Amino acid sequence: MMLRAASLLFTAIGVVKAVTIAEINGNKYLSSYSGQTVTGIKGLVTAKSSAGIWLRSTTPDDDARTSESLYLYSTAAAITNLTVGDIVTLDGKVSEYRSAATYLYLTELTTPKNVVKVSSGNKVTPLVIGQDTPTPPTTQYTSLDGGDVFGVPNGVANISTVNPVLDPATYGLDFWESLSGELVTIKAPTVVGRPNSYRETWVVGGNWAATGRNAHGGITMSDKDGNPETIIIGTPLDGTKNPTTAKMGDQVADITGIVQQQYGYYYLLPLTALTVTTPASATPIPVTFSSNKTCRAITVGDWNVENMAPTSSHISKVATHIVNTLGAPDIMFIQEIQDNSGPTDDGVVSANTTLTKLVSTIQSVGNITYSFIDIDPVNDQDGGQPGGNIRVAYLYRPDIISLYKPNPGSSTDANEVLPGPELKYNPGRLAPDSPAWNSTRKPLVAAWKAKGSKRPFFTVNVHWSSKGGGTSLQGDIRPPINGVEAAREAQAEVTSAFIAQILQQDPAAPVIAAGDFNEFEFVQPVKTFEARSGLTDLDVVVGTKVEERYTYSYDMNAQALDHMMVSPALQRKTAKYEHIHINSWATTSGMVSDHDPSVALLNVCGC
Ligand SMILES: *[C@@H]1O[C@H](CO)[C@@H](O)[C@H](O)[C@H]1NC(C)=O
Ligand SMILES: *[C@@H]1O[C@H](CO)[C@@H](O)[C@H](O)[C@H]1NC(C)=O
Ligand SMILES: *[C@@H]1O[C@H](CO)[C@@H](O)[C@H](O)[C@H]1NC(C)=O
Ligand SMILES: *[C@@H]1O[C@H](CO)[C@@H](O)[C@H](O)[C@H]1NC(C)=O
Ligand SMILES: *[C@@H]1O[C@H](CO)[C@@H](O)[C@H](O)[C@H]1NC(C)=O
Ligand SMILES: *[C@@H]1O[C@H](CO)[C@@H](O)[C@H](O)[C@H]1NC(C)=O
Repeated sequence: MMLRAASLLFTAIGVVKAVTIAEINGNKYLSSYSGQTVTGIKGLVTAKSSAGIWLRSTTPDDDARTSESLYLYSTAAAITNLTVGDIVTLDGKVSEYRSAATYLYLTELTTPKNVVKVSSGNKVTPLVIGQDTPTPPTTQYTSLDGGDVFGVPNGVANISTVNPVLDPATYGLDFWESLSGELVTIKAPTVVGRPNSYRETWVVGGNWAATGRNAHGGITMSDKDGNPETIIIGTPLDGTKNPTTAKMGDQVADITGIVQQQYGYYYLLPLTALTVTTPASATPIPVTFSSNKTCRAITVGDWNVENMAPTSSHISKVATHIVNTLGAPDIMFIQEIQDNSGPTDDGVVSANTTLTKLVSTIQSVGNITYSFIDIDPVNDQDGGQPGGNIRVAYLYRPDIISLYKPNPGSSTDANEVLPGPELKYNPGRLAPDSPAWNSTRKPLVAAWKAKGSKRPFFTVNVHWSSKGGGTSLQGDIRPPINGVEAAREAQAEVTSAFIAQILQQDPAAPVIAAGDFNEFEFVQPVKTFEARSGLTDLDVVVGTKVEERYTYSYDMNAQALDHMMVSPALQRKTAKYEHIHINSWATTSGMVSDHDPSVALLNVCGC
């Protein structure tokens, strides 16, 4: 009776007779054996970690969708005793594991039993990606993105719910899933972005087809292309440490390791630390043009200077770059200036000490005189680092540029377009009472005269809400959640409506909207902004190569969150525009701000 009860119980929890690793993985994301105990699994130990081992099937199938390898999560002595090159048979329970609800699952084996070593000393040969396997798809992540990984609406499907059949030739996530647990080699990889705080580093293989490769060796996202051909190199399995100084464009030695889904990404867990063989330059290329100090060709800079307070150690670096690398633009759109007490939440809103410090440092570095203008926010109402009261501001060279009929508005004065066109407040904040700006930075609108011009040019300095709360390009939720997209869409509508009023009065008015839009040119809020304002991204106007359009480095992608948008009057053949990669090319310790600045050369004469 006892025996019979025990075997009934066993049947109830599900025991499946000898299956192959390919059968366990199946041709989808989730194993159809999940939760069941499987017996007689046979595999070659290809790698070990402190928490388990990886097994490769000794009886592979010929289906490219079914991975032939599997992670066995266990620190049982029978497992830790095993050595790479052993062939074993064992029983275990199939399980789907993830550490957060927004991640993809890892199919793994747990609670091993009846571990029998069949042989040892077998040869372990990694699969070379692009040689023994195809190279990863370059554009789309999953069929569930509907062809556009940046499309709206977001979050309409979850991979873990749909569990689609893998199509590794078309979709990047399917490709990596089809190699889950596999020991692979990446030949001649290039680093595409600096490591995160865990020293994990994104790379792309040297022999892979890849879209968006920029001239520095990074990989730039573009319309409908989020670069799934990249992979993040995780913590080495042998206890060595990846370098902290890797950066975009560095060439590294071939990497061999295990493909593993963890923390929401497909990782390559390298057998040993990655080694930089040929470092890329971290020195930005200075702007190649200069102002001729009349309205016919002024230089216009734009830079998010990342939480600049009077005590910030990066003020001198920013000042030095403004002078030497940006060529001291005639006017600068600046974002993220903090108040005089920085992040101390003490009711102080004025930033005149911060801005005075910046311009006086520029003066001492370059003997160049700048004036500045900003409008204080209402205390604690504009988001950003708590207490910092970040705002946008302009620096300008008064020998070339001056405010046109100055009449500064207060924090709560809403600017208006008056007949002329001219501005009611100069400068003045754009619709500061609009709900679109709840807890975020209000744009600062100004009108200016440049030397030699008969009429004003208009500027709108923006810093839209950031992408907080989004989900990753490799997450479960599809298309990925573009955090705070609805707020940026509302901000696009309010900002563009104001600009449209200027151009309605005078279609030939020179208008520049620049700043940190916190959004890509090919994503809805910016598309809305361009369509309704009548402005065009200068990258498009001057024909910047698509892969060179970047001001930011995030995860695997070089990307453009910052833009300069110009009205038709400024869309001339003589216009120029360059992104200066002070940040994207830097090592972690070499970072000055988290954004790259950009500089334009524009004819703002308005005739
Ligand atoms: C592990 O290996 C040791 C030494 O070879 C052996 O004595 C021990 O029985 C093994 N343990 C298991 C659980 O296989
Ligand atoms: C996707 O999963 C998340 C949990 O991460 C859940 O909140 C959401 O409702 C799911 N969406 C769909 C469309 O199933
Ligand atoms: C620079 O200014 C002069 C007038 O001072 C003008 O003749 C010349 O065309 C300008 N250069 C450019 C590139 O516009
Ligand atoms: C900042 O503004 C206050 C109030 O107008 C003024 O007293 C102070 O001198 C200014 N500080 C600087 C550095 O300009
Ligand atoms: C600074 O520039 C001014 C003119 O703009 C010049 O007269 C002065 O000599 C310069 N000072 C130094 C130290 O170069
Ligand atoms: C404004 O933003 C805050 C903080 O993000 C949020 O708690 C609040 O609900 C928002 N209010 C409105 C009216 O959207």
